[in-house]
Parts: sequence; C-alpha cells; structure tokens
Amino acid sequence: MINLGEKVIYQIYPKSFYDSDGDGLGDLQGIIAKIPYIAKLNVDMIWFNPFFVSPQNDNGYDIADYYQIDERFGTTADFEQLVAELKKINVGVMLDMVFNHCSTQHEWFQKALAGNKKYQHYFYLRPAKVAGSLPNNWQSKFGGPAWSRFGQSELYYLHLYDPTQADLDWHNPDVRAEASKIVNFWRKKGVQGFRFDVINVIGKDHELVDSLNPIQEKTLYTDTPVVHQYLKELNQNSFGQDKEIITVGEMSSTSIANSIEYTRPQEHELSMVFTFHHLKVDYKNGQKWSNMPFDFMKLKSLLTSWQLNMDRGNGWNALFWNNHDQPWALSRFGDTGKYRIKSAQMLATALHCLRGTPFIYQGEELGMINPDYKSISDYVDVESLNAYKELLRQGKTPQAAFNLIKGKSRDNSRVPMHWDASATAGFTNGTPWLQPTNQAEINVNAELDHGEIFNYYQKLIALRKNYRLISQGHFIPLLEDNHAVFAYARCLADSSEKVFVFNNFYGTDTIVKLPTMCTKQKGKILLSNYPNNLDKLPQELHLRPYESLVWCTL
Ligand code: GLC
Repeated sequence: MINLGEKVIYQIYPKSFYDSDGDGLGDLQGIIAKIPYIAKLNVDMIWFNPFFVSPQNDNGYDIADYYQIDERFGTTADFEQLVAELKKINVGVMLDMVFNHCSTQHEWFQKALAGNKKYQHYFYLRPAKVAGSLPNNWQSKFGGPAWSRFGQSELYYLHLYDPTQADLDWHNPDVRAEASKIVNFWRKKGVQGFRFDVINVIGKDHELVDSLNPIQEKTLYTDTPVVHQYLKELNQNSFGQDKEIITVGEMSSTSIANSIEYTRPQEHELSMVFTFHHLKVDYKNGQKWSNMPFDFMKLKSLLTSWQLNMDRGNGWNALFWNNHDQPWALSRFGDTGKYRIKSAQMLATALHCLRGTPFIYQGEELGMINPDYKSISDYVDVESLNAYKELLRQGKTPQAAFNLIKGKSRDNSRVPMHWDASATAGFTNGTPWLQPTNQAEINVNAELDHGEIFNYYQKLIALRKNYRLISQGHFIPLLEDNHAVFAYARCLADSSEKVFVFNNFYGTDTIVKLPTMCTKQKGKILLSNYPNNLDKLPQELHLRPYESLVWCTL
C-alpha cells in the first residue's frame, strides 16, 4: 500500500510554467527543461493541469480530445519524454481528468449535434419547461443560466460551467465506460496519478427540478449517492487495478461525511480530496466577489474539524493553500510586504505539518503574491470577465468592480512563473500570455541565490519523510481559543512522543500559555523561521511576527 502521508505533490500549470518556443505560452519541453529545478524540491509527483486538445475557453478544462496533447503544449512524444525524464528523478505524473463535462467541440458533442442518438445520450438534453423558458432555473458557476440552446433544435443542453463545457450524463453507462477507457489509456503511458475535476457534481438528479435558492441548488447535483457508486466503478475498472496509483478528487462544496466516504480505503473510491471550505474564510456572506479580511477563528476551526473528523473516519485530506483557481494565499492570509518571507514560511509550516498529503503550487516555494494589475483588460479568465460584467450590472462602479476582481481573480495565480527579474520574468522570449508584475523581487534566481522560502520548503518536505509523527500522526488541537495562533500536536498511538506546531498568523508579537502536555518533556526544535533554541517549551511561549515553531519531544 502506498504511504500517502509521506508524499508531497507539486502542481504545474503548464501554460504558465516555462515557454520553450517563444509563443508566450508554457509547454511540455519547457517543463522538461526545468526538471533540474523541480528535482531540488524532492517532491514525489507532479499534478499537471490539462494540456489536452482544447479550444482553451476555460484554459484546458474544456477538453476536445482526451487522448491527444494540444499542439500548443507539445506532442505525444514530448509527453512520453516528460514521463521518462521525471521517472529518472523518481517523480510520478498526475493528470487532470475533466469528466464532468467536455468541450462542445468534442466529437461526442459534435456527433450529438449532427443527430446521432447514441451521443445525444452522452449529454443532458432537455426541452423547455414551458414554451419560452429553460428546462430549469439552475445557474452556471461562471454566471448566467446553466442551459444553452442545443443547435437549432427545441432542446437545451446543461452546462454547469461555460456554455462551451457541456455536462456529460454519467447515468449513461457508455459515458462511464469512456471515462475508464481514458484513464486506462494514460495509465499505459506510465501515468501514476489522476486528479478528477469537480468530480462530486457528476450525479445530477434525473428530474433536474427547479431549485428553491442558490444554496439549495447545489444540493441538487452535489455529492449525490450515485457519485460514490460511479467512483467505485471507475476505481474498479481503471486505476484501482494498480495499488501504486494516487488519486485526488476535486470536491466542490462537499461535506466531511462524504469526504470520508470518498477516501476511506475500504470504500475503494479515491485516495484523497481537495475541499475548499478553508479558502472561503475571506468571503463576505459566502460571496466570492467580496472584500474582507480573513476570519482567522473560522479558518482555524475548519482546519481543526476536518483534521479531527477525517482522521476519526479514516479519511484522507489533500492539504493545500494555493492552486490555479485561487488568488495567492500569501496575499490573503499572510503579509505581502515587510513579512512576506516570514509569513510564507509560517503558512507553509501550518499546512505541511498537518495530517494529509501536501500540494505545492508552482511559485508558492518562491513566496509569489498577486500581480499588481491596473486594468480589467489585464485579465483573461472567463470567470473574472463574466464576474466583472455582472458586478457592473449590479451597480458597482468600475473601480469597485475592478478591486473585487483584483482580489479574487483566478488569474492571480495563473501568472507565469517568475524565473528571473527580466520583463518577461524569464518565462518566455515572446510576449507572455499573462503579464508578470513583481518578478524584480520574487524570482527563482534570487530565491536560489539568497532566498529563505525555497529552502524552507525543502526542510518541510524532508520532515514529512523523516518523521512518522508528521506523516502518520493523529492531530490534537491546541490553544483553540487563541485569536492569533494556530497550534496543534501530532501523536501516534504506539508512542508517547509528540510533535508540537505553533504558528503565529499575525505580524505582532504574542505570548501564549502552554498546556502542561507541552511543557513536561524535554525535546528539540525540528524547524523554525526564527533563531530559536529550546530544549524545553516554556509555560509562556513568546512568538514573534509570523513565527512558526515545530518542536518534537525526545
Ligand atoms: C475546476 C478547475 C477549474 C475549472 C472548473 C471547470 O474547478 O480547477 O479551473 O474552471 O473545474 O472545469
């Protein structure tokens, strides 16, 4: 059995990693060129965002051919080379499987449009409820109705995302067989990991009834019992045949109970899940397009309850602060100015010492922050552009709407990787598809030369590999009522040893009273982002701005 607790996974957004041919877009040869950089981190696997054939209306999450590499990114031969080169440094490949929907340019949809009944059953095609209205009142997650006209017919097709991303009807066994076939195709090419995009929304109810309100609406298609059934089937028919494979399901608005069921080994569904509750703690009234300092107590209580309950239920968490859909965590929960380095190290410590499998998003190891864009025309993401129009429609001034986009746009983290301080950040010889802005200070060259974040990540990764307490231990919350510090212990059933982790989430000094559990034994510091030397923890622990301390009993 694979030891998920010892693994660390790096995420590469191919479009923004490194451009080898000067077209302004990252590509597979670019990734191959940077393998020596990746090797330094000592991660186990890389999750690649989709690089399959796609019109790129949602940056590759609109797949038109699941079996071919988009020529913008390279060729099948490039992909095979990438797998082989990564294998040499013991790094596995995790591919992104977008099975809730496909591009309307996919031949399945095109054949359906041409009248082929078999393929029409691949999609949710429905007539208007009453003349002139849509089949139901569901909304697309990218804004506007979730239905569009199916060609010139009287029917509509469902799309929970962009109109060019048609939802696949998983109730149809042929659709499920296609999914297994795709996974098996890539397994044969040496792929050992799969990330399943928004996989918990594949089980829409047959009836597709109207929703009562936007919150209830999600329950009509999220985490329905058939999702578990379909995942078990996919597992059995594809990746479950290989015990070395790692899978992660992206779960939109899920629950702990469902996440346990998705990941408990005895269910034979997935290895782990991405969940997002902890990244909504700066959403005012649950609204993404809002501006609010993050709610620290909420963050802490969410992390705590997921840690405790997933462990109790024998489930497994994927741990992450960043990905290609989120603004940089450092810009949300840290300090982008004076304490950029300290707060980057602190956030990393808080997460990497938890129970689960940590993911690092490209550039996080440099302490990247949101770009300083000045105009809405600097953004390209479909979700951001739709949201901007909608905010204006709701009466926001252009400046207010822009500020909201600036804080939350997915383009924040999609900015090309900063390799050096040059105008294109060393990402391309051409014109980058998204403009980098703060590469003068934050870039790989500077970081490897005299930085303190990359090498801190190396240490965290090494700790996970060397300490069973970190890779396997149970989680015990500490200082739960403290308003500045996220602290916890890790322990094992078969030993009295413990690891204690303290993280000051603010830029001010703070003193915490430690419970006797922390102070009774001798021990040593495993890692800290300040000079520290403590063979015993004091009753009152002084933490400096954004200080992290990982301490282990002897
Ligand atoms: C996931 C992806 C996101 C994409 C969406 C629709 O949330 O991470 O980038 O837009 O699914 O496929």
